[in-house]
Amino acid sequence: MKFNKSLNLLLVSLEALLVNSEKVTFKVLAVNGTPTLNIEGGQQYKMNVKEYPLYTVEADINSFPVKYNYILNYDNGQNEIEEFMRQRNKDDDSLNEFFNRSVTVLEHPQLPKAYKAFPHYVPSKLYDDTHIATIIVKCDPNDLQGLYQNLDDEGLKINAEVIYANPYGVKTYKNTYLSLGGQSTKHAPKLSYKIKNLKNDKNKELFNRSSIKLRAEHMDPSFLRDKLYGDILNSLGVPAAQNKLARLFINGEAIGLFDITDPINNNRYLRETFNKGKKYKNENPIFKADYCYSSCSDRPVYGDLGYYGDDATNPMYSIYTYKGEDKSSDSDSHFINELLPLIKDINAYTSGATDKMPFDIDIFLRYMAMEYLAGAIDNYWNKPGNYYVFKDLSKDQWYFHDTDFHFSFGVGGDEDLMLNTPLSNYPPTLDDGVERSRPPLDSILSHSENKEKFVSIFDRLLKTSFHPKAILPRLDSLANLIREDAYWDFTLPRVSQSDSQIDTDLIFEKSDFDSHVSNEEPEARYGNMPIKYFINTKSDLLAKELGIMIPENFENDLGYVENPNQTSNANAKMIWSIYTILISFCLAMILY
Ligand SMILES: *[C@@H]1O[C@H](CO)[C@@H](O)[C@H](O)[C@H]1NC(C)=O
Ligand SMILES: *[C@@H]1O[C@H](CO)[C@@H](O)[C@H](O)[C@H]1NC(C)=O
Ligand SMILES: *[C@@H]1O[C@H](CO)[C@@H](O)[C@H](O)[C@H]1NC(C)=O
Repeated sequence: MKFNKSLNLLLVSLEALLVNSEKVTFKVLAVNGTPTLNIEGGQQYKMNVKEYPLYTVEADINSFPVKYNYILNYDNGQNEIEEFMRQRNKDDDSLNEFFNRSVTVLEHPQLPKAYKAFPHYVPSKLYDDTHIATIIVKCDPNDLQGLYQNLDDEGLKINAEVIYANPYGVKTYKNTYLSLGGQSTKHAPKLSYKIKNLKNDKNKELFNRSSIKLRAEHMDPSFLRDKLYGDILNSLGVPAAQNKLARLFINGEAIGLFDITDPINNNRYLRETFNKGKKYKNENPIFKADYCYSSCSDRPVYGDLGYYGDDATNPMYSIYTYKGEDKSSDSDSHFINELLPLIKDINAYTSGATDKMPFDIDIFLRYMAMEYLAGAIDNYWNKPGNYYVFKDLSKDQWYFHDTDFHFSFGVGGDEDLMLNTPLSNYPPTLDDGVERSRPPLDSILSHSENKEKFVSIFDRLLKTSFHPKAILPRLDSLANLIREDAYWDFTLPRVSQSDSQIDTDLIFEKSDFDSHVSNEEPEARYGNMPIKYFINTKSDLLAKELGIMIPENFENDLGYVENPNQTSNANAKMIWSIYTILISFCLAMILY
């Protein structure tokens, strides 16, 4: 880059000769009101809307670094000034800042890979996690009331316009559908949402995603458990829904901080994850499994993937739901034609009738290792449910796909058991009437070579991405990025109008965020455990049980899980310099 540097130097000196003040663009996102740029010891500039909610202005700057902040002028004549100063250096990019948030972009320590990336997966720039996105929804207020009053109406969706803004740009989707998300969490005061049909006039999607979920994380004052879990799954090279945080506004009203994530059964997600982004020719089968303790039948029913005979009306089979897009036959027929044969194949493997396990064994064991290490109380191994099974017909391959990890790392109940139960006694918490057997897992582990493989996955995890020196600095950095937004979330009124609300006593404040992300002591309010305490303790306990020596520093022989950066600034800057040089050159020729 020496060449580039000296050219830059040349250009800078050239500029200095020509002008002594510089035009600098300032950009800020403001959901309500009109912002004014306030230069310390200098002028104020009223800003203009460029593309709502983005406001910009060019200011003459004589010396760097320049200190400034923004003032928000509301329609009712009131003003609000940011309580902190921002700073811009000469070469800094002009990014879209967010009013009242001091952090715009923060790079995090990356996680060392435990295994190579899943080979059929392409990352989406939507999940560049070095910033918080802003999502602004506009919809008919009466439609919205309708959603809030009919929480249990599964199919209910309303028309909405969605604006997605981040430090680099603003994208608008005029014809999306907004609906509510979550199952057990639907009656919590803070709701979760889904947005579908994210396609603009040119049929372009949101960074290769047409549908997203906005998870409320109402039980997790760190907002980061789903995210951390997903990041470690990325390091394990298994298919995984991605996560990134976003602040949500609906019709001008602040709703809160949410985890953006992928709906697993969405076609776009599936092809980006399992087929390198290439469109599938066929409708692939996909099913979701749940866990239902008392409300579904007179006994608990759950998706253990066990064989309960050929009668498809067995209550244990009622827990699987077809989630694909083929409407030519109903869910029951899909079960009989696609899932029941899978269950029988698993059973044949269990009984020794075949050597072929229909799932990829390595991937399945990696998910299970992570469930154990993260204390995932609400996932397959402990409570068989909360996962999908997907068949890629073009590869003739079934995949187990784990999902939904907010109850982990010391929240979700029975925290002591989830932390302290040895691997040899796992799973610990058995609801009455729920069997211990997990047919595919048990039969995989009954082969001694697989048992060794399982131990080697734990060994690898403890030395790479689950190593406290790898994951905890990343946690610190993510927490620094979202802290102001987390605090803000706790102050907001909740919009649910359910008259049978759950978890109304879970009211978090700043100190809950702080203890969950940084405390190394065992206790947090509501019986929870802080993430750091959980990870440190779990890693020590398992290392002792399996006789693993955790090295002083993590291993990174496979490199790191890369963040899908939205802009590679280095490249953008270089291209810009080349342009400037070319133009200067042409000008020089003309003048000459
Ligand atoms: C800006 O942040 C301060 C401090 O956190 C807070 O008191 C104030 O309400 C915020 N204003 C807006 C418009 O978010
Ligand atoms: C979308 O997917 C295509 C094909 O996989 C890829 O080339 C492109 O970079 C992706 N775009 C974004 C914004 O991630
Ligand atoms: C993202 O940016 C970081 C820091 O600039 C860099 O180390 C990394 O290689 C980039 N990743 C990609 C995928 O471009």
